Amino acid sequence: MTLEETNLSAEEILDEIRIDKISENSLFIAKKYGYAPYMIERYISMLGYEEALKLVESFEKFKKRPTILCNYLKYDCDKLIKNLENLGFSVKNLEWCDYCFYIDSAPESPSIGSTHEYLKGYYYVYRDPASLIPPLMLNPEKGSTVLDMCAAPGGKAIHILLLMEDEGLLIANDISRRRSISMLSHFVRMGFKSYVIINEDGFELPRKIGLEKFDYILLDAPCSAEGGIMFDPSRKTKTSQQVLAQLVKREIELLYAATKLVKRGGRIVYTTCSIAPEENEYVITKVLQFNSEIDVEVPRFNIWSNGITRFSDLIFDDRVARCVRIWPHRHGMEGYFICSLVKK
Ligand SMILES: C[S@@+](CC[C@H](N)C(=O)[O-])C[C@H]1O[C@@H](n2cnc3c(N)ncnc32)[C@H](O)[C@@H]1O
Repeated sequence: MTLEETNLSAEEILDEIRIDKISENSLFIAKKYGYAPYMIERYISMLGYEEALKLVESFEKFKKRPTILCNYLKYDCDKLIKNLENLGFSVKNLEWCDYCFYIDSAPESPSIGSTHEYLKGYYYVYRDPASLIPPLMLNPEKGSTVLDMCAAPGGKAIHILLLMEDEGLLIANDISRRRSISMLSHFVRMGFKSYVIINEDGFELPRKIGLEKFDYILLDAPCSAEGGIMFDPSRKTKTSQQVLAQLVKREIELLYAATKLVKRGGRIVYTTCSIAPEENEYVITKVLQFNSEIDVEVPRFNIWSNGITRFSDLIFDDRVARCVRIWPHRHGMEGYFICSLVKK
């Protein structure tokens, strides 16, 4: 498989997505909050001026909510919460996930990543609840064959193994061997056994593994991480439009490869921790054009926002409205995009 099949270069992508005209309003906000002006131009284009300002301000005064996934295959979640409360943590349940909790306040010590319960593998820690949503949307059945295409350091892979009740097979792939070592240590700590870790370029997997092998695929794509500006303010300027086009090209390639790897009737969840439409609705629209066997599913649940169907001069496939957007200022979580796809 080559990208000739998809017929797109980073230069062509840049021609389509480039934002040249920047309004006075965008320049004003960009200067005040230290952003690349094109980013603010697109926030205003998606949300309007007032709401774009709310988004930018929410990145400044975001209330961080470290979140834990209880390993209910190993330990009782009620007991875990009691133990953590005895250590001085205030723990709150997430209303959309029974075994998921956020840390409302923490003692000086121990940290949530260094308790005995953590070391015994009773839970995993995320920086934000949004990371829990993509595996919930994937919803893999016990005993199924699953691919996590870009899996390291393993946060979502652990959630997938839990949902599979550690039965079946998870292939946890990541191009980075170094990041995979930390994934392996989490899998071992938490006591999972139904996985194999491999280190391949995800785009090469159809050639190396063969076509239509997986019931479920998660693609947590390497992205600009623009939804996580509250955790890394350097993201306000880090991604030029040229770099963005290269990221988009890789995202299209990886998602296209996933469409080849999934079985008929199987599900792909494409996700990024980015709020950029170029990395999200644009990618989905391109892949729907390149592979007509793929459709967008109505997600299992969406208590958040929908995908946007137009942006600047771009009109996306109508079906992207079924995708899910998490906006920091609306939902109090890291910015995320999650889209559930099915192969007919
Ligand atoms: C967003 S992170 C994944 C986070 C992970 N899913 C989790 O929940 O912990 C993206 C990952 O993609 C990997 N990656 C980048 N390019 C890749 C490629 N071409 N094929 C496979 N993995 C790739 C990176 O090494 C990185 O670990």
